[in-house]
Amino acid sequence: MPVVKTTVVASADALSHTAARWLENALTLAEARRGPDHQLRVCLSGGSTPKRLYELLATPHWAERLPWDRIAWYFGDDRFVPHDHADSNAHMVDAALFAHAPDTDVNVIPYGPDIEVCARAYDSLLRAAHAADAGAPLFDAVICGVGLDGHTASLFPGQPALVVGDRLAVAVPEAGQEPFVPRISLTFRALNDSRATAFLAAGADKRDILTRIFAGEDLPARRITAHDSLTWLLDEAAAPASLPRPGPAAG
Ligand code: 6PG
Repeated sequence: MPVVKTTVVASADALSHTAARWLENALTLAEARRGPDHQLRVCLSGGSTPKRLYELLATPHWAERLPWDRIAWYFGDDRFVPHDHADSNAHMVDAALFAHAPDTDVNVIPYGPDIEVCARAYDSLLRAAHAADAGAPLFDAVICGVGLDGHTASLFPGQPALVVGDRLAVAVPEAGQEPFVPRISLTFRALNDSRATAFLAAGADKRDILTRIFAGEDLPARRITAHDSLTWLLDEAAAPASLPRPGPAAG
């Protein structure tokens, strides 16, 4: 069972800084456990919330603070559209981060004529990466978002992908929330095989679904776990009323 922690920060901007420090810490802990020579594996979320984080990681400050040449980056899901499409998570993360960051190993979810072929290709890619050091979790850090219906990645309520246990990546023919395009998503088997995982959520529109999740409702986002730590990083607008608020800014 992971150590579960919730951090409420004052704003979406503060959330991006807190998330960057969370990622740095998660990778430092992973290197301490696995040694400095192992490639680190990080799985990123799509959607709009983490975009500020990705833009922050692209700044010179973070260019110096992360071991970019030892990180392989993966995606928790993508919309099944060309990589130059406005709905593509690969497109969003490249524009916000990788186009401006130091050289690093980016593994986008493939797009092509057949969604099942692409899903199986990503499944194989993840298995091959993990086979290199099967003794460690698949990921050293996973960043998740949560949709208004409680989905995470492209694991939507009531859909078959929620119970797939023999795959790391699957095709999701029908999205349960916009954009209503087919998706490819990592399964819980993949997403939960992580040393450290953080949810990022911001904005008043997320308070209701987070309140339901924190109350124990069995929604996909609540099925996310991790080996060592699961951290909810929320801004005040999104945080359920039951959670303590940040104190006054230090003098
Ligand atoms: C996606 C994401 C998805 C996202 C949630 C929240 O492809 O859209 O992976 O799981 O995290 O839908 O999206 P927002 O951050 O835009 O609210």
